[in-house]
Amino acid sequence: PSEVVNLVLPLFLLLELGTHCVAVDRSSFPPGFEFGFSTSAYQVEGAAHEDGRGLSIWDTFSCIPGNILGGGNGDVAADVYHRYKEDVQVLKSLGTDVYRFSISWARIFPGGSARHGKVNPKGVQYYNNLINELLQNGIEPFVTIFHWDVPQVLENEYGGFRSKRIIDDYSEFAEFCFKEFGDRVRKWVTVNEPSIFATHGYGNGKNAPGRCTTNGGNCAAGDSSREPYIVAHNLLLAHMRAVKIYRSKYQQKQKGVIGISLYADWYLPYSSSKLDVDATQRVLDNKLGLYLDPLVFGDYPYSVKQLIRDRLPVFSEEESKEIRGSFDFIGLNYYMSSYVMDNSTSSDPTRKSDIASNPGQDAPENPDIPDTFATTTSQKDGIALGPSEGGVEYWISYPRGIKLLLDNVKTKYGTPPVYITEIGYVTLDNGQPLQDILEDTERIQYIKNCLCYTLQAMREGADVRGLLLWSYIDNFEWNNGYSFRLGLHYVNYTNNDLRRIPKASAIWFQQAMNPRSFKI
Ligand code: NOJ
Repeated sequence: PSEVVNLVLPLFLLLELGTHCVAVDRSSFPPGFEFGFSTSAYQVEGAAHEDGRGLSIWDTFSCIPGNILGGGNGDVAADVYHRYKEDVQVLKSLGTDVYRFSISWARIFPGGSARHGKVNPKGVQYYNNLINELLQNGIEPFVTIFHWDVPQVLENEYGGFRSKRIIDDYSEFAEFCFKEFGDRVRKWVTVNEPSIFATHGYGNGKNAPGRCTTNGGNCAAGDSSREPYIVAHNLLLAHMRAVKIYRSKYQQKQKGVIGISLYADWYLPYSSSKLDVDATQRVLDNKLGLYLDPLVFGDYPYSVKQLIRDRLPVFSEEESKEIRGSFDFIGLNYYMSSYVMDNSTSSDPTRKSDIASNPGQDAPENPDIPDTFATTTSQKDGIALGPSEGGVEYWISYPRGIKLLLDNVKTKYGTPPVYITEIGYVTLDNGQPLQDILEDTERIQYIKNCLCYTLQAMREGADVRGLLLWSYIDNFEWNNGYSFRLGLHYVNYTNNDLRRIPKASAIWFQQAMNPRSFKI
């Protein structure tokens, strides 16, 4: 033990020095802290038309020309459906404790629900095989019930998540999962990133089902000002119902935990002016608070109610009571941060919404904020995201944001148990030489810094139970198709070769998960 102390103590001291992490690995985290990877069904499985799988809104959306960068779709994706055994070995070699994947609703219920036909036994078999293979290899399954792939039938029948009718069908699917897989699955996420599903599916139309107020764009006619909030509300109610079912009928016996994964990028004011600081809070409330406030306090944030007014649905007293506390953990997905500018009162034209028409414009460094060491290496840095409700955003790659996020969640929401259910780093495949893609030192640096800041937040009291990366392989990045690569392994899509080739980050991660200090 004294050798361990001698080794660990200087490491800790080193970590405390300055904001840049020097060394961080599994041994820096408390015992029992879990590491892993996340994926979702449509993004990795492929086999979209095999073994009785039904269609989802993503199958439909991806077929419409112009919707996906480079024109791809999830028909084959990374072919995990056929390669799951090989992939479990990849996960194992990385030192993974948990693997989070989603269940394709239309693979289980091709017709969307039991009302529309039978359960698909081959779909059920696939997930049973995957779960068993993981467990046999010492990896714990962590299941997302809904990761954006609504069965097309339900979209056609009543408008999917625009209708409250989805709550019955979703909870039937959720209950089927608890019943069928819950003897072996102990960690459940009800819904992945309701905020992106709502805003991209119904606000800007970039994601399935591709609805928005049309103004010459590609989307199907919708109402961008109202539908995202209706959908958000129904997602929250669907989550609440699934948790109720799990808690009342399965949890005691199966001894699992259930939560939700929220899109949780962080926000910094563009300047220290009160206007920008207030706008930053409004945007945070609208992105994270819209979900976290109901879950913790039973209602939407005051600033959102003020801003959205009659476009925001209302919880009944009963619902408010029931949604409060409807989680065992909160999943947070952190990728980047954004600067926020006020656009509500300023007469400065650059602060108005037309800033959105300048994508690629450099994000200004904020001189008023010390230690913003926003790296300028990600291709996403400084992309003007454009106006959202509450302010104008610029994306920056900013590892320290994860600490600020965790501090905020701890302080404002009473230290809920947290899993960081996604962290990741995008690099663009521009057809550069393979060797350049494999040398992903920026990704290593980014993830290392995120680990370090997570650790700092934990030392200051955040209750973080585990951290999962997106992901162990490249995959179908929704409307950005296959050109956005986030994997620790490169997937060779050429001629459907689909080999997984480790990037430098895979080798680094493997070593970080098996630190030498353990062997001493
Ligand atoms: C979050 C989403 O959950 C996931 O589907 C997506 O691929 C990653 N972000 C990366 O953008």
